[in-house]
Order: sequence, then structure tokens, then C-alpha cells
Amino acid sequence: MGRVFVDLKKQVDDSYEITIGSGFIADTVKGFNSGSDFFMIDDNVFHLYSDIMPAERVYRFRADEHNKTHESVVAVLGFLFRGECRRDGRLILIGGGITGDVGGFVAATYMRGISFVQIPTTLLSMVDSSVGGKTGINFRGAKNNVGVFAQPKHVYIDMDFLKTLTDEEYLNGVAEVIKYGMVYDADFLEYLYENRDRVLARDTEILDYMVTRCCSFKAAVVRADEKEQGERALLNFGHTFAHAIETDSDHRIKHGFAVATGMYLETDYAVKHKLAEAKALEDIGRVLKAYGFDLTYDIHDKEVFFGAMTADKKADRKGLTLAIAPKTGTGKLVKNISIANVTEYFTGS
Ligand code: GLY
Repeated sequence: MGRVFVDLKKQVDDSYEITIGSGFIADTVKGFNSGSDFFMIDDNVFHLYSDIMPAERVYRFRADEHNKTHESVVAVLGFLFRGECRRDGRLILIGGGITGDVGGFVAATYMRGISFVQIPTTLLSMVDSSVGGKTGINFRGAKNNVGVFAQPKHVYIDMDFLKTLTDEEYLNGVAEVIKYGMVYDADFLEYLYENRDRVLARDTEILDYMVTRCCSFKAAVVRADEKEQGERALLNFGHTFAHAIETDSDHRIKHGFAVATGMYLETDYAVKHKLAEAKALEDIGRVLKAYGFDLTYDIHDKEVFFGAMTADKKADRKGLTLAIAPKTGTGKLVKNISIANVTEYFTGS
């Protein structure tokens, strides 16, 4: 019997830069001017760059959680194929998290992978989804259940996008910012509480600090655990309950808002099961309330709600895995949580 060892030590350095600044994206977009550059852009921001992108190589995407599907993937793959994109092609993704996740998945799979660049246009995608290489779609009602890890070549973050976001879209991202404080850095959480008026007013200095700080947290986590074998899973704090909220509300409750409520309820669950201290619940509740987030959720359809929780990637046959904050500024993974306990927490039976 012969034996051959397939040595897969990384042959390619996937490191990349996150460039953070203001007022530079139009020049960046103009710079992607080779025939192998293709654009996938959220319809909401298309008008900003329509004059400087080659019309025949632009895919306009109606970014909506209901479009985060394999049908959208097939449509973008078709666009690349018709445009004769080859393996040296590059897909420039301009938009929020949905555009980045779907487009990243397309880039990662087209011809077994072409380069892609993220230009996030929402706070949520700047501080979370554009960095770290999680790409994918929702499948059969389960959130982000089909996808691959694939790192972008570069992330360009322009703060100017934040000035024109709706309040709802801006707050959607603030929830993920609060998450970093709760699982990594109690001082940062306190900073967000103390400076809530300036954060809500989108003060330039605060935005710079906040986005850079979150990207540094994210970069450090991804460096340590790119494929979410351990530490990276702490970023799922609030997300197990959040995915159930999003699905049960048919995505009327946006991701960040669901994460906010999920962080509070997961902490409450953890305190009730002696997995977290009461001060952690007090802290997350105080900060979330200061930003006006809901701390409760009324389930519409129990089957859909608990079904979404068990279909979650973080669940296995032994039960749910919850990322919790046992103390403010620290995170911990708790495995094998029985769905019966969680059901009882929500329904009292
Ligand atoms: N959004 C969590 C992560 O990128 O791991």
C-alpha cells in the first residue's frame, strides 16, 4: 500500500489591507479600469458611480435579505460568464452586507475563485461583514447556511457613506459595534455609552475611531481563527437568537436590530442559567436602551422561530452553541445547550 501526504500548508499569503478614510471611493472605483474588472453594486448607490463604471461590466443588485439566494448567485455567475470574465477577473463589490456576502460567494466559486474587493457602504458591513471572508447565502430559510470562507484582496472603507445612511440602517450597524465592546473590551462599551449622543450624531471623529477600532478587533480575530474553529465564534454573540428573530419576523427586523435583542436575551438566558453575571445583563441592557434598541421579542410562529434556531449553523445533534458574555468585555462559547431549555426560556413551558 502506498501513502502520499498532501501537504496543504498555505502557499499563498491571503493578507490584505483595510483602507479607511473619507471622500476617496470615486477615485478608487475609477482605478478599477481594466477589462477584467467587473462590478456588482447595490442599486441604492449605483447612481453615485454610474458615470465612471463601464456599463457592460456592471451588475446592479437589489440588495434585500430575500434576494440573498442561490437564484441571485446564478444570476451574477451568468453575468460574469456572459461578460467573458476569466480567472484573472476581479469582482468589485459595492454595497452592504448582503451584496458583499452574495458577491463574495460568487467570486469564490466562479472558475473556482476569482479575486474580489469589498467596498462596504453601510456601517454594519464596514465593521463586520466586509472583513474576514465569510461569504454565502440563506438556504431553505436558514440564514447564511451555504457559503465559503474567501478573503477579499482589499477592503476600502469610506466614512462618507455613513453620512447618508438612514437612521435605521445606521443603527443596524451600531448593534454590531456594541457587540465588540461586550465580548472584547468593557472600556470600549463604556465609551459607546458615554459618547452615545456623538455616535448618534455621526460625529466624524467618533466614526473614525469606532470603525477603525472595530476593524482592528475583527482583523485580530480573523488572524487568530480565520475558519471559525474557536475564538471567531465569539463574534456570534447574540446571533443564535437573532437568526430566529430575523426568520420569524420574515426579515422585517433587520440583522443588527435582531442582534441587539439577541445579545440581551442570550445574556438574560445565560444569567438565569448561571452562565453569566448579573452585571453583564445590566451593562448590555443599559447600552442597548441608550440607543433605543428593543430588549424583548414576541414570537409570531413558534415552529418557525425554534426551527430557525435548530437549523442554525452553530447547532449540532447535541444542541445549540451559544456565544455569551459571562462578564462585560469577555466572551465564551457554551456548547450542548438543549433546545428544550431555550424553548422553556422563551415560552415558559
Ligand atoms: N460576522 C461574524 C464573523 O465574521 O465571524
